[in-house]
Amino acid sequence: MSYVAEDKRASRLIIAIDGPAGVGKSTVARLLASRLGYLYLDTGALYRAVAWAVTESGRDPADAEAVAALLPTFSLQMQFHHGTATVWVNGKDVSGDLRTPAVSATASVVSAIPAVRAWLLPIQQQIGQDGAVVAEGRDMGTNVFPAADVKFFLEADPTVRAQRRHREFVAAGHSRALEETTADLAGRDTRDRSRSTAPLVPADDARFIDTSILSVAEVVDQMMTVIAARL
Ligand code: DC
Repeated sequence: MSYVAEDKRASRLIIAIDGPAGVGKSTVARLLASRLGYLYLDTGALYRAVAWAVTESGRDPADAEAVAALLPTFSLQMQFHHGTATVWVNGKDVSGDLRTPAVSATASVVSAIPAVRAWLLPIQQQIGQDGAVVAEGRDMGTNVFPAADVKFFLEADPTVRAQRRHREFVAAGHSRALEETTADLAGRDTRDRSRSTAPLVPADDARFIDTSILSVAEVVDQMMTVIAARL
């Protein structure tokens, strides 16, 4: 399927993609952004950068006050190039350190802190303010871009999600048991869905896609069919 170049230059939609870990959000968001000539906004990378900074500071990520006090002391920069985000914390490029199991676990904890979410909100909104963005996270359609032009909520069977995440870890050279990844994912799901501020819930006007038995290409095609009607 091809989606014409002149359309992608003319349109400046905000496309919001939410869902739990392991549903394939990043993969499809990156592909959609590339097809449309849009910016891919990986908001998980921002939460991961905060997690990295909290760990580096030696503070307890579960100590909401200590984490909130740290926020004004560090600078966060994000640059996008060909679908890859480079993230600097206090001038240090931390992009390569953000996808470890330890940072994933800490990101899940700090992302439940209201002060962290409030601090990251304008940063995300500023990046997306001119549209032409595919924004991916947990609260894109509900909180960050409630007026997004198209909203998707991806879901998948927890076993399938754990297997996908496990394959990513192994491919990245980390060694760990599938059971550990399954347990991590279940813990993150519970935290993401039950936190009081901006929990992981579908927006009322989001379109659901169950990616359990769909290929990446099939998911992207379904999404492009919806988006093409808005271009
Ligand atoms: O999408 P990810 O796995 O990179 O996200 C890392 C953590 O950040 C995850 O536990 C949930 C949190 N997160 C969030 O709360 N809100 C977002 N918009 C993006 C990520």
